[in-house]
Amino acid sequence: MQKLVVGNWKMYLTANQARSLAQICAAQLNDLCRENDIKLVLCPSAEAINGVVQAIADADALAVGAQDCASEQSGAFTGQVAAASLKEIGCAYVIIGHSELRVRGAESDDQLEKKLQQALAAELTPIFCIGETLQEKKADQTNHVIKEQLAPLKKAMASFKSLKKAYIAYEPVWAIGSGLVPDAPTIENVCAQLDQELQGYSDRVRYLYGGSVDADAARWLWQVPHLAGLLVGKASTDFQLLKKIVGYKQ
Ligand code: PGA
Repeated sequence: MQKLVVGNWKMYLTANQARSLAQICAAQLNDLCRENDIKLVLCPSAEAINGVVQAIADADALAVGAQDCASEQSGAFTGQVAAASLKEIGCAYVIIGHSELRVRGAESDDQLEKKLQQALAAELTPIFCIGETLQEKKADQTNHVIKEQLAPLKKAMASFKSLKKAYIAYEPVWAIGSGLVPDAPTIENVCAQLDQELQGYSDRVRYLYGGSVDADAARWLWQVPHLAGLLVGKASTDFQLLKKIVGYKQ
């Protein structure tokens, strides 16, 4: 089964830097991705998407994703980007519910569901992020939190019978940018819970892990049976690290 490596470039790169890195990825990683049966999804910030789409135009193992989309189709929503626009300019994927947006209180469950609806209607493949905070982990609340966070995805999928594919990225908030990565059994436990919660969608939903993925972590993360890929933040902005992460998949 083809695996996914999603590079969430956050706001690390300017539009020119993003285009340059995408050009290097297209020239030097396309063959490696093909050999390892990986789709490499680059997710630059919104203003950089056009340049990245052009840069990877001839690289069939690469694709472009957005870091967010609007919860509405169109209208008076200053600063928002519509899912349909993202599709129009060449995105195939969109990250929804990233904790860096969730924690700022910017997204209610209702908004997340609408964002998912917009993404699905525009035929973008959603990468839906879930994961507990350190406080929730310490209080042994992980399973409860994950169950609650899945609600918008379940609702959106129930109303989209024609849904082809969605990815769920398990990204513990305490692991993002911290250098900490949960061990394999912890990730497997969460995946087993996802299997339970999402019965009936198992053929269309795949799981990613994200949070401090670097080259060392990628070595063993590729061996975790439930995972269909990795969501990589900071390390994906460093070409050599990204090459190792892609290269370690056997
Ligand atoms: P990180 O970020 O790899 O820099 O920890 C991951 C993410 O937030 O998607």
